[in-house]
Formats: sequence, structure tokens, C-alpha cells
Amino acid sequence: MTSAMRPTPPGSRYSGLVDKYRRRLPLRAETAAVTLGEGNTPLIELQNIPEVRAREVRVHVKFEGLNPTASFKDRGMTVAVTKAVEEGGRAVICASTGNTSASAAAYAARAEMAAFVLIPEGKIALGKLAQAMMHGSKVIQIQGNFDAGMALVKRIADEAPVILVNSVNPYRLQGQKTAAFEIIEQLGRPPDFHCLPVGNAGNITAHWIGYCEYSSVPGERTTSACAFCDGDCRLLHDRVVADRPKMVGYQASGAAPFLRGTMLEHPETVATAIRIGRPQSWEQAWSASRESAGWFDECTDGEILAAQKLLAEKEGIFCEPASAVSVAGAIRDIGRGKIPEGSQVVCTLTGHGLKDPDTAIKQSVPPITVSAEMDAVKKVILDNMN
Ligand code: F0G
Repeated sequence: MTSAMRPTPPGSRYSGLVDKYRRRLPLRAETAAVTLGEGNTPLIELQNIPEVRAREVRVHVKFEGLNPTASFKDRGMTVAVTKAVEEGGRAVICASTGNTSASAAAYAARAEMAAFVLIPEGKIALGKLAQAMMHGSKVIQIQGNFDAGMALVKRIADEAPVILVNSVNPYRLQGQKTAAFEIIEQLGRPPDFHCLPVGNAGNITAHWIGYCEYSSVPGERTTSACAFCDGDCRLLHDRVVADRPKMVGYQASGAAPFLRGTMLEHPETVATAIRIGRPQSWEQAWSASRESAGWFDECTDGEILAAQKLLAEKEGIFCEPASAVSVAGAIRDIGRGKIPEGSQVVCTLTGHGLKDPDTAIKQSVPPITVSAEMDAVKKVILDNMN
């Protein structure tokens, strides 16, 4: 047993979401988690965005870009790879727009397994490609989009001894549902509206599973120790957790099958993470939307990039373009009154902005170059003070 495989004694320090929520996950008690300390991400209240300040609405962002590989995928990957080890697997495979491949590569490395990742050639952000390469996965670029890759890996996993770790793997969704648990614990109640980007539709599905699960077992949490998790979430009252949020899914206009009501052959958007035309969790996401009385809507690439910049400039939060669609959509729906005053809103920021430096640099003011002299530097400062 390597040091990475040694179970952490419970209660000492935060050691990842498998240890904290094991009793809510389909893993054996004795299986050591393949973990990098994922989960436990901050829930940050927006305070400077004018459109939010103008209304009596509280908006928090769940910054999932602060996971170990800088996206929400790590929540599902820790469970999927832990399960893969439990089942004696030797290799994992996925198709990806970039984040799943980065996460699969990292967790496979941690578990000393092989990883094969299929990505659409030229259509994944630079940081994500660097991650998959650095973690030593076999990167296979296909001359086709994510949906084509997905169709391939599903067939390959049927025929070869490799475990599929896309979100069609149920353990992925089980891990990702823990984000809903954390939000309830951090907010002290479920939000009224949960806004998130939708691509392959696993995340909206997983959050809904999490909220439903939390609301279905309130009675269990009435003893002095939390019977729900092994952490220190404290007790939440039955009344509070019985509520569930409306699930609001936002898509990029060029890749919005849920808005068109049908699968798309040629999705296109600057938010490459959600450049998906054939979501695998199509039915489940519709159910989440319907059962929660939520809705789907779309944002243009311009709106997405504007929201990304707004978060970075006004709040100091740098998320990737796909993540910003949740805030772009929420701001618009708050402005319209579709999300009414008095509401508590949570937006998921799915990935970190450093994943996609090209898109960030393209939309920013370029640096000013001056000579290395006091006067030259001083002039720039004075010119830019107001
Ligand atoms: N945001 C980011 C940053 C993503 O990477 C993804 C999906 C989503 C949102 C959409 O989440 O698919 O659960 O609806 N990325 C996948 C990938 C497809 O391969 O990394 P979803």
C-alpha cells in the first residue's frame, strides 16, 4: 500500500469529499479514496456587480474552479476513479471538451492507472491540454467534436478493458451531487434558484440528485452528531432542508440543444467547454428542470464574455467562459424579474479562468510597454489614476 492509499483518520482535517460524504456514496467502507482534496470550495457572495446591487437579491457563486485540477469535474472523478480501483480496473477513458480529460488524467495518475482521453482537435483551451499532457495521459485528438468522441469512447469501453469516466458513469454524478450538500451547509439552507451552465448536462442532473437526497432525509439530522456526513456541517432544521431550488440551466446560443428542443449536429461557441450538441444526460436534465419548476435559457458568446470580464473586474473572481454563462443568465433573469426580489441565488462557476488564457488575453487591454525609467512609469500611473 502506498502512502497515497492509506486511509486518513476521520475528523482530523478535511481530506476530500469521499471521506466526508462516504455514507452518501456507493463505495465500500474500507475502500481508500483516490483523492487530491477536492470539494469544500468557497461560496462567495457577489457584492460589486451593479445589476445585482440594484435589486434585493442575494447572489452567491460556488467557485468550483478552486478544485485540485481547477474544475468541478474532480468531484465526480474522485468517486469514479476510487470505484475503478475498487473494481480492479487498470485504465480509464473519456471524451472531453477539456476539463474531464484534465481531471481524469490527474486522478488516474494518482491511482497509478493509465488514462486515454479523446479531445476535439484545436477546440480545447490551452491550460486543459497542458494538464492532460503533464499528467501523462494518452491524448488522442480527433478530427471531430465532443459528441463524436463521446460516441467512440462508449463503444470502446464496451470492447476494451478500459473504464469510461464520462458522466454517463453513475459514480461521476454521485460525486458531483456533493456540491449541492455543500451549498446547503454553507448557506444554511438551499437557495431559491440554482443557476448553472449546461453542456453534457451531467452537472445539473447531479445537483438535482443532491438536493433531492438532502431534502428526503431531514429526520436523520436531528441527533447531536450529523448523521448525514462525517464532517462538521452541524444540524440543519427539517423545515429548511425540505425545500429545493429551482434549477436554471443556461447554454451558449450556438450550442443550445435544450432551447432548440432537439440534438444539434454542429454546436459552436467561444465557451469550448460547453460546445456540445448531443447531451448525454438529456432526459435527466429535462426531469430536473421540470420537477424543480426551473427553466433553460441561452446567452450569446458576447454576453458570456461580458459576464466573465465583469466577475474578474468587479469581484476578483476569474472563471472560464463556460462558467460565466451562469452569471450572465442570472443577471438577465434578475433584471427581468423572472428571479424575483428577495431570492437567494447560487451560480456555479464550473472552472477556473486560467484554463483558457487565450480567450482571456484576447478580451483584455494589452500591457503597456515603457522604458525602465522612473518618469516613464510615473506617467503611466498618473495618466491612469482616474
Ligand atoms: N462548465 C465547464 C467548465 C465544463 O467543463 C463543462 C463540461 C460544463 C460547464 C458543463 O457541464 O457537461 O455537466 O453539463 N465539460 C465536459 C468536459 C463536457 O469534457 O470537460 P455538464
